[in-house]
Amino acid sequence: MSGSALSAALRVRPGPALAGTVTPPGDKSITHRAYLIALLAHGETVVERPNPGEDCRGTLAACQALGLEVHESGESVRLRHPGALRAPRTPIDCGNSGSTMRMLPGVLASHPFASTLTGDESLQRRPVARIVEPLRRMGAQLSARDGDRFPPLDITGGALTGIRYTLPVASAQVATCIALAATRASGDTEIEIPGAARDHGERMLAAAGARIEITPLGDHGRRVRIGGSAVLTAGIQRVPGDLSSAAFFLAAAAARPGARVIAHGVGLNPTRTGFLDVLEEMGATVTRTEIGISGGEPFGDVTVTGPGRLRAFDPPTSWLPRWIDEVPAWAIVAAAADGRSRLAGASELRVKESDRLAMLAAGLTRIGIAVAETPDGLVITGGAVAGGEVASGGDHRIAMTFAVLGSLSSTGIQVDDARAIPTSYPSFVADLRALGGDVAPGPVEAVE
Ligand code: S3P
Repeated sequence: MSGSALSAALRVRPGPALAGTVTPPGDKSITHRAYLIALLAHGETVVERPNPGEDCRGTLAACQALGLEVHESGESVRLRHPGALRAPRTPIDCGNSGSTMRMLPGVLASHPFASTLTGDESLQRRPVARIVEPLRRMGAQLSARDGDRFPPLDITGGALTGIRYTLPVASAQVATCIALAATRASGDTEIEIPGAARDHGERMLAAAGARIEITPLGDHGRRVRIGGSAVLTAGIQRVPGDLSSAAFFLAAAAARPGARVIAHGVGLNPTRTGFLDVLEEMGATVTRTEIGISGGEPFGDVTVTGPGRLRAFDPPTSWLPRWIDEVPAWAIVAAAADGRSRLAGASELRVKESDRLAMLAAGLTRIGIAVAETPDGLVITGGAVAGGEVASGGDHRIAMTFAVLGSLSSTGIQVDDARAIPTSYPSFVADLRALGGDVAPGPVEAVE
């Protein structure tokens, strides 16, 4: 189903356990990076099975605006570098995509022209100071609205020099942004990442020929040294399926005794699999079967089977970067578990596509689940999911969470606005139906 065909409201009725095999779309994080690395690697890059959602399409459109020739055929995209990038003729619209806004500047920083990056209302509220500061230190000129805090972002690139920099938050977007710039700087760059943020940037840049050295630090952090003046090689990147998209259905299986969902061909990079560890701690049976590795990224099948009783669990704060995008899906299992699950150290969730802590707390309350919102987390007490109408806040992952909870509810759940779902997962509704979800998209209907 395409984004435009998905009506504003989405209603999911109670139904049997979701069960079966899902092959989610290509991983969003890896797709963005494959396109961004194509902007730095001369020759032709082929990206197979990229994420087809609007966010990644925004990055692809930016590649075209900067001069890459783009050919799409079937499930692959070929990007041909013209030798030198050109200045975009109009501001680059990043839409809803924080990844485009925060990582594309890592490419633009080393190119001698001016660009403006803008985005939708939600993106204009998301912080960019975290990339302005390091790129400025490397030698690029940047300015953003409200004291360099929020988009639109203006950037003029130029000659860069390597820096040593400690990231204030364990953000993979920031790490990749700096790493992309670092490959074209004079001298090496060293960054310290204070937590287990996803390492796709390092793996993919290394696979493209960059010199990357990694030293583990305490508390799951790492120091990354990136060689400057690198010559990157264009190549073929097969994108694994997006475990973050599959997570909603895996959570649904964990929440029903004996239910089983298989996610086929998904990324198994250990910096992304924290949610599987959380499900195991709650009592679900999780099996991971690696099939192969592409561009440094392992992929395979994940099977989750729901236990007789799901136990409440307080996920350790240090795990959070490894499942930051699955916190909404965690609400599904926490709502179904016996007892109280406490999430802490998650204030970053307040500056995602929506304030996810606030949206989850409000939605769970609406459907009859006891929840307390704290400044940096949620305390969810499992119980019976009644049903009702919830707001998505225009956030794809909030909308998908409550759609799946609809299947587990006793009266059905109506999500007020599901139009953001195609930013990451255009085939979500079709996949939910294929697993047995009783979905009634269409004009707004009342929940009895
Ligand atoms: C992403 C990193 C995370 C994540 C986002 C994608 C990435 O953001 O929430 O959806 O691809 O690097 P942060 O880097 O802000 O933690």
